[in-house]
Amino acid sequence: MPVIRMLRRVVGPMLLRPACGCSTSVLPVRFLGTSPRQVAADANYHSASFSETDHPRVLITGGLGQLGVGLANLLRKRFGKDNVILSDIRKPPDHVFHSGPFIYSDILDYKSLREIVVNNRITWLFHYSALLSAVGEANVSLARAVNITGLHNILDVAAEHSVRLFVPSTIGAFGPTSPRNPTPDVCIQRPRTIYGVSKVHAELMGEYYHYRYGLDFRCLRYPGIISADSQPGGGTTDYAVQIFHDAAKHGKFECNLDSSTRLPMMYISDCLRATLEVMEAPAESLSMRTYNISAMSFTPQELALEVLKHIPEFEITYNVDAVRQAIADSWPMNFDDSNARKDWGWRHDFDLPELVTTMLNFYGSNTRVARAN
Ligand SMILES: NC(=O)c1ccc[n+]([C@@H]2O[C@H](COP(=O)([O-])OP(=O)(O)OC[C@H]3O[C@@H](n4cnc5c(N)ncnc54)[C@H](O)[C@@H]3O)[C@@H](O)[C@H]2O)c1
Repeated sequence: MPVIRMLRRVVGPMLLRPACGCSTSVLPVRFLGTSPRQVAADANYHSASFSETDHPRVLITGGLGQLGVGLANLLRKRFGKDNVILSDIRKPPDHVFHSGPFIYSDILDYKSLREIVVNNRITWLFHYSALLSAVGEANVSLARAVNITGLHNILDVAAEHSVRLFVPSTIGAFGPTSPRNPTPDVCIQRPRTIYGVSKVHAELMGEYYHYRYGLDFRCLRYPGIISADSQPGGGTTDYAVQIFHDAAKHGKFECNLDSSTRLPMMYISDCLRATLEVMEAPAESLSMRTYNISAMSFTPQELALEVLKHIPEFEITYNVDAVRQAIADSWPMNFDDSNARKDWGWRHDFDLPELVTTMLNFYGSNTRVARAN
């Protein structure tokens, strides 16, 4: 009994600590046991250990996907080229390899991950490796390994070395029983894809490590991200990238989602800026550790109408993919991101018209538009 009372005395205040994690009285881990492998029994974790005047030393995992190279470019402008290391298990194209430090890193290899963090004195980690929704459903065991086991490695290495950790979550972390229009930050989450399940797991584990070990975990739930110069990696919102390429090059597009499927979307520059902003936000401004962020929400039909304003001969046809449609039908239609806007000042720049203009300009639809006019 005295032991239980002692634990209550020690654990109680910890569980009641503010979500910002600004308290410095982190519980010595020995009172509660340790994380499975790496966490030393007498470890005592704090937020990022670099001084505020230093630039962070950054590692991006899964950096060769749709979002990682853009994030590296943004962070390198801010913190200096050599302070941002891009990593992946794939071979980088020449222009990426020559644009700054690149390193091979398989997140399933804990020892190598730890070596990279130690040798490079990493203080911030952006964990982008994942198998996305459609790809994950096609290979559940690999998705489980990368998205769940890999995440455990990342959490352990970040906690062990006082690294500030960013993990993106997604609209896919919600399911058919969540309120879908709008979807608030905190509500029922019963996703039906391995991708969604693994992302809810990541949100909960990150928050658990935050309260348990003081890990400086920060997470944004991204909508579908639209980018011009990088290809999507097999998600349900990929159509909203491909449509611009096909519209500009061929004047037509076959959509694999139904015309009325409404999903939240965001232009990549807003997404990456939000990611940097939440990482730079003072801990005391964060009332939560996982935030929705939102910019716009549209259906394929609404997107096509906006494209038509630029390319009058544009045609869209529909050939619905049952797997992707079922996933999309279980996801939020609109995201409530009022907490992000209130806590750390999130604002998006791109609405649908700016998005469409920017994307079509990138794909050089000007000639097609000029011809049509
Ligand atoms: N792109 C979106 O629309 C979107 C939306 C919501 C959330 N997200 C999240 O943002 C992150 C980045 O997304 P993305 O679109 O760039 O993904 P992506 O699929 O394009 O890229 C993921 C990268 O992870 C790498 N990877 C796979 N297995 C790995 C392993 N074992 N070790 C290291 N790397 C490995 C892949 O090689 C790939 O380059 C993901 O976590 C994703 O869930 C993306």
